[in-house]
Amino acid sequence: MRLSSPCSLALSLLSLAQTGVNAAVTVYGQTPLGVTRSASGTEPTQTTLAAYNDTELIPPPLPTSVVREFKVDLQRDAASVPNLSIPHKTASFFGFSIEMSVINQVLGKNSSHLQVPFLNLISNLQERAGHVLIRLGGNTQEYAVMVDQLENGRAIAKEKASLTQTTLTPAVLYTVDLFYIAANISSLVNVNWFLGIPFNDTNWRLAIAEYGQAILGDRLVGLQAGNEPDLYERHGHRPAPYTPQDYNREFGELIQAMQANGNIPRTNDILIGPSLATGDWEPQMVWDTGFIDNYRDNLCVLTVEHYPNNNCHAQFGTGSFQDPQTNFPSYLTHNAGVQLVNPYLSSTALAQQYDKPFMMFETNTASCGGFPGISDSFGAALWALDYGFQMAYSNFSNALLHIGGQNVFYNPFTAPPTNETGFHEWTVGAIYYSVLVLAEALGKSNTSQVVDLTGAIGSEFTPAYGVYENSQLSKVALFNYVDDLEGTRGPSDLQVTLSVPGSGVPGSVKVKYLDAKSVSSKYNITWAGQTFGNKFEVDGRFKGDLNVVDIPCDTANNACIIPVKAPGFALVFFNTDDDITELGQATSTFTTSAHTKFLNTATIDPEVLATSNGHSGKDRARMGSTSKGSTNGVGRRMSGGKLGLSVLGGGVVMGVIFVATMM
Ligand SMILES: *[C@@H]1O[C@H](CO)[C@@H](O)[C@H](O)[C@H]1NC(C)=O
Ligand SMILES: *[C@@H]1O[C@H](CO)[C@@H](O)[C@H](O)[C@H]1NC(C)=O
Ligand SMILES: *[C@@H]1O[C@H](CO)[C@@H](O)[C@H](O)[C@H]1NC(C)=O
Ligand SMILES: *[C@@H]1O[C@H](CO)[C@@H](O)[C@H](O)[C@H]1NC(C)=O
Ligand SMILES: *[C@@H]1O[C@H](CO)[C@@H](O)[C@H](O)[C@H]1NC(C)=O
Ligand SMILES: *[C@@H]1O[C@H](CO)[C@@H](O)[C@H](O)[C@H]1NC(C)=O
Ligand SMILES: *[C@@H]1O[C@H](CO)[C@@H](O)[C@H](O)[C@H]1NC(C)=O
Ligand SMILES: *[C@@H]1O[C@H](CO)[C@@H](O)[C@H](O)[C@H]1NC(C)=O
Ligand SMILES: *[C@@H]1O[C@H](CO)[C@@H](O)[C@H](O)[C@H]1NC(C)=O
Repeated sequence: MRLSSPCSLALSLLSLAQTGVNAAVTVYGQTPLGVTRSASGTEPTQTTLAAYNDTELIPPPLPTSVVREFKVDLQRDAASVPNLSIPHKTASFFGFSIEMSVINQVLGKNSSHLQVPFLNLISNLQERAGHVLIRLGGNTQEYAVMVDQLENGRAIAKEKASLTQTTLTPAVLYTVDLFYIAANISSLVNVNWFLGIPFNDTNWRLAIAEYGQAILGDRLVGLQAGNEPDLYERHGHRPAPYTPQDYNREFGELIQAMQANGNIPRTNDILIGPSLATGDWEPQMVWDTGFIDNYRDNLCVLTVEHYPNNNCHAQFGTGSFQDPQTNFPSYLTHNAGVQLVNPYLSSTALAQQYDKPFMMFETNTASCGGFPGISDSFGAALWALDYGFQMAYSNFSNALLHIGGQNVFYNPFTAPPTNETGFHEWTVGAIYYSVLVLAEALGKSNTSQVVDLTGAIGSEFTPAYGVYENSQLSKVALFNYVDDLEGTRGPSDLQVTLSVPGSGVPGSVKVKYLDAKSVSSKYNITWAGQTFGNKFEVDGRFKGDLNVVDIPCDTANNACIIPVKAPGFALVFFNTDDDITELGQATSTFTTSAHTKFLNTATIDPEVLATSNGHSGKDRARMGSTSKGSTNGVGRRMSGGKLGLSVLGGGVVMGVIFVATMM
């Protein structure tokens, strides 16, 4: 049976992260824990960058027919369940795709200045799922250039020259420290990486492959070759015509160049393609070129990238205007995930024949930055969770949610603007909860198989999934997309009867709820009673008390009745021995008293926003700085000091040297 964890992951390294090491890493970017924030009124005006936008939409009207009470008959043994997915190996099903140009915002300025909230957010996933896959790349990887040094000790910058030009794609400049950022993160939390080889032309720049392999070793899972090649012609990245045959040929030329390069030891089982946006080509068009047969030994994972919609009109004036309010209902249905996955079903089957994992390498609510009011709403959390389960059911091995930085609406997590790090913490987007819940639902037994039970229920607004571990029923996931405005629009809470014919139900089940007031809510989202906090309040650790609900079952009538709020999501644990049931905050936690205070500016990077899907690259215009003042960062040196980076509960303490931070 197919391994569904990509390639040759070095899981021996896992022990490094789990046992704890004395790490000399300086961490920054967070308001000191326990520091009282300034009283409101003295705080400067809040930013209106997309990632912190407060737009709340109106929940869709009640669907005309929602069956509130229904019964789901479950099979205890996997052998009796048709269409069960492949087993999902240990790795959080959702990982992250971080746009190369915003790495410094998310991971840290350089290898000695890592972002602590990021480490905590990963730690929470690691404890649930074993390890986390992160891709550094996106549109901006294509023009990336390695340089010896950048000013102020930075690992990443955008090429200054192109900032003044309006139509050129800015080149991302990076130093060798980019790889040390990744390596240092992997020494603290269990992250494995994907990088991308620039593919903007065929004068191959292979530094990413050379240094990536040398510095990351087996922590480097794969190297992407070509990002959305089906859009190269449309975006003017290749002269027309550019066909699947051309991509197939160039992929081969790249392999030859890598094999001829003495600094690239691994050329087998490491390349990633074809990463179609599924915009101008269908996957079958690439398979028809013999792509998989040709490069079977070199390929590590087969990939696609896709977004269900785009907000390019609002961002760039291209395509047709998409009204967020009008589009909101299209996310609040099981059909959304089913439609996203359908074009790939024959490809996931083909991937199994070739024994290759199949990944959704980049996705999110909408390309060109997502939609205000949708992308960071509780509704999006339900959408992403359903979509994730649907991909898992459909034999995708993993999916990466894209992070585009402060100028997009859809980030799973976002650092405060650099000019506000002195008094603001991070912001967690609603879809981070989806990542966490799915990681918990699939767990780390390496055996989780998923089945979509919605067909038997018959409503697109109340999907359900079963999870089997070690071939036994382990969990049931129940969704309710309906928003009854806290009962004011009629009772829409569900009463779902779970029954296990033949074997009977246990005496009780444990239930964890993902909860918020409304599908439009951005605030007070909780998982099993705990929250990461609202906008600018997040240090990456859960707050509040864990609330796992014990629901007694009626064994005489073979029924466990599970209420699910409107809107809401319930994860029902049949295997209550599972440690994960009582897991709230991960035991490994990073804290620091370091924080930065300096002025900087955010610049909208069209390449970050404009991923595929109906967007014409020709019409892109740089939007320049969003700040009212200078476009130059003004730094102020902080005094140094000794910090404690502690691992709570694990008894491990990491010593941290604090070095002045200036960007
Ligand atoms: C949120 O974004 C929308 C669309 O870009 C904009 O019209 C609105 O002013 C923004 N609101 C805030 C509070 O930033
Ligand atoms: C299994 O999947 C196939 C193909 O999607 C579908 O036609 C069939 O109805 C499914 N069977 C069940 C029992 O759900
Ligand atoms: C590809 O990107 C590199 C680095 O940014 C640049 O020097 C080169 O001119 C680009 N090639 C094309 C064909 O645009
Ligand atoms: C990171 O940046 C700081 C401050 O600019 C600098 O002192 C330090 O040397 C840099 N670290 C690396 C590894 O470049
Ligand atoms: C972090 O990176 C620096 C290089 O900048 C290296 O000297 C240091 O050993 C690394 N620390 C860890 C814990 O890997
Ligand atoms: C997933 O793969 C399994 C095993 O090959 C197969 O039985 C099942 O039908 C596939 N599911 C879908 C939705 O294609
Ligand atoms: C799952 O697989 C990983 C990687 O092979 C391994 O480290 C881990 O021990 C496995 N877990 C179980 C429960 O077998
Ligand atoms: C979030 O919850 C807190 C505490 O229960 C409450 O005071 C606050 O009004 C809620 N915020 C929103 C936006 O609902
Ligand atoms: C920080 O920068 C943003 C965007 O440039 C701006 O809107 C905001 O007002 C600034 N905040 C402060 C405290 O200067």
